[in-house]
Amino acid sequence: MKETKLAFIADTHHFSKTLADGGRQYQLRSGSDQKCLMETGDIIDAAFEMLKNSDCDAVLIAGDVSDDGERVSHEEFREKVRELQKSKPVYLITATHDWCSDDKPRRYIGNAVLWDVPVLDHTELRDFYYEFGPKQALSEFRTHLGVCSFTVDIGPDVRLLALNDDQSGMGGAGFSEEHFQWIEAQMAKAKEDGKLVIGMQHHPIIAHIHPMLTGGSCVKDREMVASRLADAGLRYMFEGHTHMQAIDSFTSPNGNTITSVNVGSLVGYPAPIFYVTVKDDGLHIEEERVQKFTFEGKEIDAQPYLAKHATDLLDRLVEGALISKDEFADRLSAMGLKGNDFKNLYFIVYPFAKLYFSANVGTLARVMRCVGLGRFLDPAAVAQYRNKPFRDFVHETWLSILDGRGKGVGDEAYQKLVLGVADALVQIRSCKLTLDLRQALRSVITADYFDDAVI
Ligand SMILES: [Fe+2]
Ligand SMILES: [Fe+2]
Repeated sequence: MKETKLAFIADTHHFSKTLADGGRQYQLRSGSDQKCLMETGDIIDAAFEMLKNSDCDAVLIAGDVSDDGERVSHEEFREKVRELQKSKPVYLITATHDWCSDDKPRRYIGNAVLWDVPVLDHTELRDFYYEFGPKQALSEFRTHLGVCSFTVDIGPDVRLLALNDDQSGMGGAGFSEEHFQWIEAQMAKAKEDGKLVIGMQHHPIIAHIHPMLTGGSCVKDREMVASRLADAGLRYMFEGHTHMQAIDSFTSPNGNTITSVNVGSLVGYPAPIFYVTVKDDGLHIEEERVQKFTFEGKEIDAQPYLAKHATDLLDRLVEGALISKDEFADRLSAMGLKGNDFKNLYFIVYPFAKLYFSANVGTLARVMRCVGLGRFLDPAAVAQYRNKPFRDFVHETWLSILDGRGKGVGDEAYQKLVLGVADALVQIRSCKLTLDLRQALRSVITADYFDDAVI
């Protein structure tokens, strides 16, 4: 097989600077999001420059290209993609944020939030982005929404199956029966043509990390969808949507395996580009991150800037817990989680919130000893990390969720500390939530998907 090098990016969520003035309402909106808003155009420019100068054969964009479907954001984004396409073929799919599925498009002026923003409708998206897939398509499928899936050859031996999974018509992301049949026909055709097929869609087909974290972000009836795709012969799927990173495999009851790669958001930590080299022995994945971008005339050191934007979100959540149970639940809900589910754990959350801004590991260990939970912390691990702020562990865990690189990999003391705290939580209240939390934490801090990954 002749080698082909592809570049995947996801969730560019371009937000036009014309939609905000940096005032109070904008600050509130920006502060409740893990990804950036006003900075998106500048981060995208920096990433596209990297892509232009790279040796990749094609650039693939896995949906949510605009912030929330605003026409002006789409128009600015399309101009950027047109520029990139002068250097590299670009293929993209749109997703639900591109047509305002939840009536969100708005602008933020001073203390006012205005809803008077023209948006693109789902019926317009296929033609709007015609030159990035539909135009070159070998075959195309239009869904009941008017959005499209398509196939296109992206290397001598490689074919892209770009799927739009916006609303299957059965109450969630996925595919109608007709859409599945088109996919199965495309897989059969690719086999006949001797092409390796690589899939791209927006919503994950596997609950990465832990279903508690990502189950709600997947296509509806994910095991059925993954089975059907695997049984059709699809081996690889690249996805976005969660703004988290992971690689996992699923085997259908018929014994066919599909591997899904979740690419993080380009405009939030870790601002990744996944370079994927297709070779005889599999797909070799390398992650490159945006390191610098220029914002308001200043050069920004992207990684610490984006990491801080993400962890500030967490700090505000903990501040909410210090205010009240309802405030905590509201702030969790604003992040897209089921805030009310966590209300009955507030009696555990509150003491942790009190320690969050001031305690180091030594203090935490003392407090846990005082309340009879000292046995859950390994003394040698406590000694090793005695002076490290408790908050740093929480920040690192959050960043590990986003970048798929567990900070506890190869560090037994680190793992013992984090899992010791999780065990103590289970001891205080053993319920599905704390048990899931412990399992999710274990997956997060030991995640090790990406270094020299070959799938
Ligand atoms: Fe997104
Ligand atoms: Fe999304």
